[in-house]
Amino acid sequence: MTKKPLIIGIETSCDETAASVITEDGNGIPIVLSNVISSQIDVHKEFGGVVPELAARSHLEKIDLIVKKAISDSGIKLSDIDAVASTAGPGLIVCLSVGLSFGKAIALSLDKPFIAINHLEGHALSPRLNSNLDYPYLLLLISGGHSQFLNVKKLGQYERLGTTIDDALGEAFDKTAKVLGIDFPGGPQIEILSKKGNPDKYDLPKPIFDRGGCNLSFAGLKTAVLKIAKEIKTEQEKFDLAASFQKTIEIILRKKTLEAFKQFEKKNRFKDKVFVVAGGVAANKKIRSMLINLCKEKRYKSIFPPINFCGDNAAMIAMVGLEKFKQKQFSELDYSAKPRWALDEKAIFLKGAGVKL
Ligand code: KG4
Ligand code: ZN
Repeated sequence: MTKKPLIIGIETSCDETAASVITEDGNGIPIVLSNVISSQIDVHKEFGGVVPELAARSHLEKIDLIVKKAISDSGIKLSDIDAVASTAGPGLIVCLSVGLSFGKAIALSLDKPFIAINHLEGHALSPRLNSNLDYPYLLLLISGGHSQFLNVKKLGQYERLGTTIDDALGEAFDKTAKVLGIDFPGGPQIEILSKKGNPDKYDLPKPIFDRGGCNLSFAGLKTAVLKIAKEIKTEQEKFDLAASFQKTIEIILRKKTLEAFKQFEKKNRFKDKVFVVAGGVAANKKIRSMLINLCKEKRYKSIFPPINFCGDNAAMIAMVGLEKFKQKQFSELDYSAKPRWALDEKAIFLKGAGVKL
């Protein structure tokens, strides 16, 4: 029997230091042997957001421990590794540099290939970590840094159907939480508080709701929330604002997902229509159930990667590394970190923040 490839993935693009070892079974299905994630929430809490220099310092302090743990949890020896895959972008350059340099050093010392990975490609392919999924599928990526609809055609072929023209959805949740006096990252807390409030109390704006295809915009909504938050006097009003925000987001996502469905169907031929939702905000249960119901209505199969593969992790980076390793798509050791790196290279050349409205 031929030896199955063993790949180590390293992720340090933002505020999670992560490493993972994966291999595959006889049918080419990935097997995650270890998946270690260390979050820096406590480091950034008092600043209300990620501070790049502090994040990089924390990555530097933890990276060797996290990589060692990923190796020991996987039950293999470092010398058994066939290739090293590190996130090279997009992200904070000082943070990316830590994982990128560490990965290159391991590859160099083992004399094994090094593979630079696009973080967004990791998210885009993450559902393949736990389900045998055929291409094409429609992906909604909603995280703290990104919000986009992608037509995932196959490895290396991604078409952006829509994106945010200002804030990412996770960012909108976190900023709303901040004005309500909730610690960073406040997204999960907004969901909890919203259960105690009246979702119809405040009529919040829905920017570019009836135009702009499946592109998204949250800046106007955030400003409206800020204005109302200044007037708030009681705890109940705080709950009502959280509930109204949560409801507005659900209405926006429903409408824009329907639009994305239409565009996706025009562009592809398929047996089954599949809709995948990934990124940290996919953990929001109310958004999940709304999207699951929408999929039932429109006969899509809905897939949500498990929570530990939804947010930032290194298993998704190792998996893209595995696919590229099999195709011998290696990178040079002078590969540099890319703060911006679009999955759909053509999309960034469109006018107006990359979006046609
Ligand atoms: O994907 P992720 O772990 O990291 C990146 O940003 O790449 O996403 C983190 C984001 C944060 O903005 C966080 O507030 C948001 O996901 N988030 C949520 C929930 N859980 C995490 N937003 C709303 N509801 C949630 N339950
Ligand atoms: Zn991410």
